[in-house]
Amino acid sequence: MPNIILRDQDIPGIGTYEVYVQHGGYEGLRKALSLSPKEVIAIVKESNLRGRGGAGFSTGMKWSFVPDVDGPKYVVVNADESEPGTFKDRQILEKNTQQLIEGALICAYAIQATAIYIYVRGEFWDIGFQLEREIEKARAAGWIGQHIGGSNWSCEVYVHWGAGAYICGEESAMLNSIEGKLGQPRVRPPFPAVSGLYGRPTVINNVETLANVPPILVNGAAWYKSIGTEKSPGPKIFCMSGHIAKPGNYELPLGKTFRELIERAGGVRDGKRLKAILPSGASGPLLPGTDKVLDTPLTYEDVAALGSTLGSASVIILDEDTDMVWAAYKMIKFFRHESCGKCTPCREGTYWLEQRLKAIYERKATRADVELIESVAKQMQGKSLCALGDFATSPVLSALKYWRDEFYAYVEPAKPAAKAPARKAAPVAMAGD
Ligand SMILES: Cc1cc2nc3c(=O)[nH]c(=O)nc-3n(C[C@H](O)[C@H](O)[C@H](O)COP(=O)(O)O)c2cc1C
Ligand code: SF4
Repeated sequence: MPNIILRDQDIPGIGTYEVYVQHGGYEGLRKALSLSPKEVIAIVKESNLRGRGGAGFSTGMKWSFVPDVDGPKYVVVNADESEPGTFKDRQILEKNTQQLIEGALICAYAIQATAIYIYVRGEFWDIGFQLEREIEKARAAGWIGQHIGGSNWSCEVYVHWGAGAYICGEESAMLNSIEGKLGQPRVRPPFPAVSGLYGRPTVINNVETLANVPPILVNGAAWYKSIGTEKSPGPKIFCMSGHIAKPGNYELPLGKTFRELIERAGGVRDGKRLKAILPSGASGPLLPGTDKVLDTPLTYEDVAALGSTLGSASVIILDEDTDMVWAAYKMIKFFRHESCGKCTPCREGTYWLEQRLKAIYERKATRADVELIESVAKQMQGKSLCALGDFATSPVLSALKYWRDEFYAYVEPAKPAAKAPARKAAPVAMAGD
């Protein structure tokens, strides 16, 4: 089956306006403009497209929460992509640029937005300039600006560069950042659909989510639901990294198993055995490489049933030689660095987790420290303003759940039954290295 999102793999140059329109580009927006905004929302709702930014929330439902009021309304495209191991939005922004712009415009029409802000990760500065060039081509063709496609609806598109903070990928911190304020999450309610950017109704969607919208408008909700599973329909991009033979982005229908995905990416590197999987970068709990996990379908609900999350599907593979104490320590280091410091449990918790994990890793700790990190992580859960506070507990609690002996081996090295794994050079480059 040809790719629906990673179309650049089948059609070189599809990201440019010229090639995009030769292959059906802007037919989705044309169709949307022939319908009422409510009808467009109904189609997207019916397709059961779920947000690809992490939470998997129904996109059509999110759009329907926007009140029908006069005055400015906004669409914010989340192109901050900072989760360790996630690089799918980057490929869409770079190689299927126009499909993203068209998807954002369809969303804007559906909620009658007056402007779209594309918040691009600061490190993607060159991609941001390319995006601006493609925006100008779409404007020249009449798809951006006044009376779009001859309709009564007008909308502007702006690119806004971030400054390299992971927390600005969190939607309310992103709104503050665009407004020129400190990039820290807001207290909710009010939710962005009612009071978002500049206090106006706002929809925030991920790049991949919006790239799914034009084909849904062109082919219909029933076609979309024929791909994937009933509760998790559509194609999904899986970012494969870590100890995998062929790292990269893979587009598959949701519902394929971890085993099929790993095989597609050439298997574990150097023929080694699989030890663990991070299904959603550093944010989701680690899973052991058992047959039960390998045979689990890659859907939002099936991965949740295993006690983890599909998230943005940044799948990091860890082979048999991976030291899980090292892995947990590196991930905590990342979260301690990225915590915005607004809430005490997250700010202090990530600091203490890093300190004690460092002591364990340097063999300067006792068994009580292993119990302490577990207690600190449990006390952090559900007590913070945004999800980062919970994300930060995942590496510790899941590593302890499946590989507790490795932690004890670091603090009680004399025990022959539980020998600490030999230190190797860091097997996977991770944040904080
Ligand atoms: C700490 C943190 C970082 C996040 N980073 C991103 C990100 O880089 N990209 C993204 O699309 N969503 C990110 N999210 C999720 C967004 O808050 C939001 O849920 C998402 O953009 C909604 O889009 P969707 O409904 O299309 O998935 C992050 C959330 C948190 C808590
Ligand atoms: S949970 Fe952490 S990152 Fe999120 S608002 Fe609180 S301190 Fe900031």
